[in-house]
Amino acid sequence: MAWAASLGENKEENSPRALYLNQCAVCHGEKMAGSPPAIPSLVGIGNRMSAADLATRIKSGKGRMPGFSNLKDDQLSGLISFLMRGEDNERVSAGPEPSLMKYHFTGYRRFLDPEGYPAIAPPWGTLNAINLNTGEYVWKIPIGGYPELTAKGLKDTGSENYGGPVVTAGGLLFIGATNFDKKFRAFDKDTGALLWETTLPFSGNATPITYEVDKRQFVVIAAGGGKDLKSKSGGVYVAFALKAPDKDKKPR
Ligand code: HEC
Repeated sequence: MAWAASLGENKEENSPRALYLNQCAVCHGEKMAGSPPAIPSLVGIGNRMSAADLATRIKSGKGRMPGFSNLKDDQLSGLISFLMRGEDNERVSAGPEPSLMKYHFTGYRRFLDPEGYPAIAPPWGTLNAINLNTGEYVWKIPIGGYPELTAKGLKDTGSENYGGPVVTAGGLLFIGATNFDKKFRAFDKDTGALLWETTLPFSGNATPITYEVDKRQFVVIAAGGGKDLKSKSGGVYVAFALKAPDKDKKPR
């Protein structure tokens, strides 16, 4: 996935807008569009959150958002009215903290084509096996796809994916990770051949785990989705039992 990023010059020395650009734009973007779903847009935030809730969120943070407890009261209220109005009228009083830098980062933007697909040649995601003794690729295959493109015959495009694999002692590599097709797959770790796949209720952006109970082996993955804005997200663990490796290597 290619991302577009740039620096913008900080001109207004001590306005709420400058404070926003200096402290918040790195994540929420210069135009407040964010990078959904990981980083929410702040456009029209005044319609969704009260000033009091905004103050708490900014001071304490939440999840991956840090708290800004260093902001002074007038800076905070200036910032809140800036966020609620989406424009800059009031100026906050001068103060040493937080210091304003000459440039600000304008935020992460995916480099997408007009249809919303990565604007680079596929594959848009690969699974790679590397021999750690030699550093060489043993195999490399596209992983993931877009269901609507697959339906049109555009297979093996690969897709953005987040989540690692687990490899069993029997030589099976299990991986979910793909953002859009919600698949959970098993590959032969030596060859990269696809042995089995299933569709999860939500995308499995997580690393699976494998364990044994009473001589039966299981593979479990957390499926939550949330990275494909067109699909619902949820929160389930999906478990699979494996057949004995001597009879059939494929999981049941
Ligand atoms: C390091 C990245 C980062 C920075 C810097 C950051 N935020 Fe956030 N912000 C997030 C993330 C991630 C969330 C979603 C948190 C969650 O709900 O788990 C969020 C959520 C929010 C929300 C709630 C939005 C909603 O729709 O629920 C507000 C309001 C907000 N941020 C304002 C700000 C302001 C104002 C600043 C600057 C003072 C700021 N943020 C700086 C990452 C960031």
